[in-house]
Amino acid sequence: MLAEILGSLSGAVSNFKYLALNPVFLIAALWILWRVWTFTIKPKLRPLNPPVLPYALPFVGHTISFLWNREELLSRGSKYFPGDAPYALFILGIKYIVLRKPEDVKAVWNDAKSFSFDDYLRAAFAGFDIPPSSYTPTFKDDPARLWRGNHKDAPYFVKENPAKKRYINLQDGWMKEALQPGKKMDALSEIFMGHIEQLIPVYLSDPRIKAGDCKDHGQGQIVDLYNWGRYVLADAGSRAFLSSEILDIDPDFVQHYIDWEDVSWKIPWSYPGILSQDMYKARETLVQVFMRYYTLDPTQRPNLNWLFDRMQREHQQLGMSLHDTGTVALIVLWGVHLNTYRMLFWTLTHILSSPSLTIGIREETSCAFDSETNILSISHLMNKCPLLGAVWNEVLRLYASSAMIRSCVSPTAIGNKTVKAGDRLLGPFRPMHLSSSIWGDDALDFKEKRWLKDGGIKKPRGFFPFGGGHMHCPGRTLAKQEVLLFVARVLMKYDIEPVGEKVVRYGEDPRGEGAQEKRWKVPEVSSKHTLATLDPKEQFLVRIKERSSQL
Ligand code: HEM
Repeated sequence: MLAEILGSLSGAVSNFKYLALNPVFLIAALWILWRVWTFTIKPKLRPLNPPVLPYALPFVGHTISFLWNREELLSRGSKYFPGDAPYALFILGIKYIVLRKPEDVKAVWNDAKSFSFDDYLRAAFAGFDIPPSSYTPTFKDDPARLWRGNHKDAPYFVKENPAKKRYINLQDGWMKEALQPGKKMDALSEIFMGHIEQLIPVYLSDPRIKAGDCKDHGQGQIVDLYNWGRYVLADAGSRAFLSSEILDIDPDFVQHYIDWEDVSWKIPWSYPGILSQDMYKARETLVQVFMRYYTLDPTQRPNLNWLFDRMQREHQQLGMSLHDTGTVALIVLWGVHLNTYRMLFWTLTHILSSPSLTIGIREETSCAFDSETNILSISHLMNKCPLLGAVWNEVLRLYASSAMIRSCVSPTAIGNKTVKAGDRLLGPFRPMHLSSSIWGDDALDFKEKRWLKDGGIKKPRGFFPFGGGHMHCPGRTLAKQEVLLFVARVLMKYDIEPVGEKVVRYGEDPRGEGAQEKRWKVPEVSSKHTLATLDPKEQFLVRIKERSSQL
């Protein structure tokens, strides 16, 4: 009996030895130990550190899930760690602390000493292949020390910089000066809005927008709503900031820009160079246009917006090459265009999908037109059209997908968790915008009414479509003006409705007391290549014809 027990024990030991030497078993055992240590024991030993969302492969962390589908990864994080305390992700070997509470995000914005955006600015320059030798001077304190010329010809970073700010911060201030309400922005806005109004009908007959003629009525046409808004805003914005002379240099500038923007998502995702050749080629085409444009005598480009003019001069005084200066201009233009046309698409789509909302907005905005001259008052649209303002806010809430992102430069605490120097902070806005604890059980539904109160618009907690703190988007007023003007002008000028059947019976008639109406289906969002504002998964075609009576 004893011999049998000893025999089976020695069999088990030799089996174990065999298993221990088996590489598959060894790897599996080490993997289990690593998982238990990292995700079970360590969080208990260090409760002040934000817990890490479990992942399967050491070193790889959450990189693949993040690149594949960021929204899905964040929703997994929220489900795994219920509540709103910070948790951590590992992406490309870096620890990212995910903030979920509006108050935590605000705490980061308010603490510019502990949290910096410099790493991301450097990464943006590097992502556009601007060499460090070119952009490093923009991060130097007291840039006047870099200037060797005489005082008379000194650039702004020398002459107009008593606080000895870094160039990068000075430029930030100029962007605010150019884009925030005031004389400079009013002048820019007037030009920009003028171009939008003029280009709305022009692009209707463009084959890139036109999806066919209406056979049933014998008049009117079918257009791709996304492309219509996209081309009009890209064209108008290029003319407003760079002036129409850029199109004299290259009449296809807008198309080149759109070709490049279609693949520009590869930049922040650090896509491998070998798979990014299309993006490099498209970018180089644009940079070459900028270079030719900037070498024109200033008298040949008299309408260039002062911001682009100033940036170009200052960059060259800092020692940047003309090529790099052109690349920076492209980065700024990207910021101008990237989000707004997508927001325009969703705003128009939601309005047009509801017959009663279309009528309501048309009625509301008709008062913004002068009854004699048909001139549209932007200030009326911005301040006296609460229903349209409510739709705009609801669209921002549902489709803005950017995040607050900073690096921690000195150890600090967020809520009851510690943050170490070198950690990155990620405050994605969309989970807050869709949180049922903030917005209620219908948080996922489009409901413009949630914004309306006593004839005005509510200011809720946790709504950050334009970021906040010292980097609060300076283009937010201009973006809203672009969209509101486009919507009002189109509803006034055209009879327009979606193509296809009204399939979903869901909306409440915004004018009736709880009446239901049938609406057209709004496209779902695509999770592919998301940058800052979500894209639709499919096309949205509309049937359009000029209205017989426009006022
Ligand atoms: C609906 C459209 C827009 C959305 C959703 C949007 C969103 C944002 C967000 C979230 C930020 C903050 C980024 C951060 O904190 O890291 C930002 C910054 C910025 N946006 Fe916008 N933006 C829009 C339109 C525009 C337009 C039209 C312009 C220019 C004409 C513009 C220019 C800028 C600039 C220059 C910054 C950087 C500010 C700084 O560094 O201080 N944006 N935007």
